[in-house]
Amino acid sequence: MKYREGNMKDHLVGSRVHAIDLFCGVGGLTHGLEKAGIDVRLGVDTDPACGFPYTANNDAEFLLKSVEYITAEELRSVFPEDGIRLLAGCAPCQTFSTYNQKASQSDTRWWLLLRFSRLVRETSPELVTMENVPRLTNQKVFRDFVDDLEDAGYHVSHRVVNCADYGVPQQRRRLVLLASKFGPIEICPESGSTIREQKCSSAVRCTVEVSGIACTIESCRGHPT
Ligand SMILES: C[S@@+](CC[C@H](N)C(=O)[O-])C[C@H]1O[C@@H](n2cnc3c(N)ncnc32)[C@H](O)[C@@H]1O
Repeated sequence: MKYREGNMKDHLVGSRVHAIDLFCGVGGLTHGLEKAGIDVRLGVDTDPACGFPYTANNDAEFLLKSVEYITAEELRSVFPEDGIRLLAGCAPCQTFSTYNQKASQSDTRWWLLLRFSRLVRETSPELVTMENVPRLTNQKVFRDFVDDLEDAGYHVSHRVVNCADYGVPQQRRRLVLLASKFGPIEICPESGSTIREQKCSSAVRCTVEVSGIACTIESCRGHPT
């Protein structure tokens, strides 16, 4: 890097954020980052079926490769010389999911989070983000992940959020982590858009509230609306 961390903030004011999305899947996170104005350069995933939807819906390149074998050098070559670098990684969550209580520490997917941690240490991006199932919060592998970030000089913030409170039409709770070398960072408060879903035998009724204004959308299975 051309700058020292001490004056990094001043040096980078107004710079564009460039991202790499590890475990990118079909590109949901990449899409959100791009919509937020972030230049996502690359998504990495082992599932070949993700390649087409990922590149059709996003500007980023897709790399079919295991994060286990990605090197810091490869990542560095993707990031431009200037600008703020964001490493994002939503490692597979089956290991920690409540649907998979039998998962053991021998499950190799535990270690994917540690691989991510290693890549953060080796590439030292200014920003890091990850998302996973809430149950991960209580696991040692997650505490180690946070400790490693703090030891490397990151300010870390994480909490469990409900996607419905951010305007997503789904009651889905997720652990979200942000880490920054610029100083304290906070996950933004709820968007003011709340999705409430009511179900009955023949219909799904979804009420969206944005800044106090509510709108109800109703869909009927097998019945005209
Ligand atoms: C929870 S999904 C990620 C979803 C993605 N963030 C999105 O917004 O669409 C986890 C992804 O990790 C991928 N994966 C599993 N093991 C991997 C590995 N060793 N290297 C890279 N990707 C892997 C899976 O194929 C899956 O697409």
